[in-house]
Amino acid sequence: MQNLSRKAFQTRAVHAGERTPPADYTPVSTPIWPSVGYLYESMNDTDAVFEGTKSGYVYPRYASPTVSAFEQALASLEGAEAVQAYATGMAAIHAALLAGGARAGATVVAALDVYGATFSLLRGLLGTLEVKVRWVDATDLPAVEAAIHESHPALLMVETISNPLLKVADIPTLAKLAHANGAVLLVDNTFASPYLYTPTADGADYVIHSATKYLAGHGDVMAGVVATSTENKQRLYEINKLLGATLGPFEAWLSLRGLKTLPLRLHQQCQNAQRVADWLEKHPRIVRVNYPGLSAHRQHELAASLFGGRGFGGMLSFEIAQADKAKVFHFMEALELCLPATTLGDVYSLVLHPASSSHRSLTPAERARVGIPDGLVRLSAGIEDVNDILADLEQALSA
Ligand SMILES: Cc1ncc(COP(=O)(O)O)c(C=O)c1O
Repeated sequence: MQNLSRKAFQTRAVHAGERTPPADYTPVSTPIWPSVGYLYESMNDTDAVFEGTKSGYVYPRYASPTVSAFEQALASLEGAEAVQAYATGMAAIHAALLAGGARAGATVVAALDVYGATFSLLRGLLGTLEVKVRWVDATDLPAVEAAIHESHPALLMVETISNPLLKVADIPTLAKLAHANGAVLLVDNTFASPYLYTPTADGADYVIHSATKYLAGHGDVMAGVVATSTENKQRLYEINKLLGATLGPFEAWLSLRGLKTLPLRLHQQCQNAQRVADWLEKHPRIVRVNYPGLSAHRQHELAASLFGGRGFGGMLSFEIAQADKAKVFHFMEALELCLPATTLGDVYSLVLHPASSSHRSLTPAERARVGIPDGLVRLSAGIEDVNDILADLEQALSA
């Protein structure tokens, strides 16, 4: 730090206290590093950092220390070589699609029941850029194989547990199918989280999360990540230097803090979701419950083997008998504990009406094709006492 004692008041106001020499202590938790600029001993050092021959940071749109700490933590949890963080889950999906080969003339084979904005990104924005999409039921393996053989895709994109129908994808088999035909596999692992499942271990090339959900977990930050190989990370890094969908240091810090309680939260959320699903399945006002932990679920055995006995996730959806949009809204307004907020994976229990929110951008015909009726409600189990959640659902269903 330069000697400021003889400088003017205005100059000291700007520079005093800044750029103190590195300390000889280590803070226990990672600090928030908001600086937009970084200084080195010499311009040659700065040049070497730009070149990548010396480690360091040059500009936070490229990378920054708090974000790197979060990326390292998540790479460890996902068992991946590297992670690139983003400002949102959608930015992560968009970047992974581009890095994986989505460009004019290329085909993406995608699960029909992906998150609504992912559906719109593929069908809408990327469609206008002449990326072709072939929709499949990702749980119908012969149909996926036929689609791959017919369309020679650059990418196959699925969700481990789909939003909002809770179908479970056979990632090990899908990875083999994709690779045998020269395609890369992109998996949105948001609903499962690395606590339940790490798709890279089974061959997925790009694993995406809306970190806004379980990873951060407290409903107070937006973030996205792609877990992948070191080689793919380099592609993502170069793309993001231009896209600029970079995670901020404050959000990275909150996300890193969220990771520490991921196993505790998920353990409770899985238990609560299982109890709620068991209870709803027997409820006279409910016609259908989608939850991989139910023995009636079509991929129950697959989910049990993929998730290694840790549970079946905190998400479920259910259909209220003879309910139209107005009746579902009435039910959601009657809830007192479960909050009707447009997100999931938080410590709070949350409900959502997919037809008017997460899948609103689909036309009614598209929703019918995907299998999202107006009576469908999605529930994200929080970490509250499950008896309070059940009592709330009971009183609202009676209302
Ligand atoms: C499964 C899934 N993937 C991706 C996203 C997009 O994430 P974000 O809202 O952080 O952009 C969402 C958002 O709800 C989601 O549910």
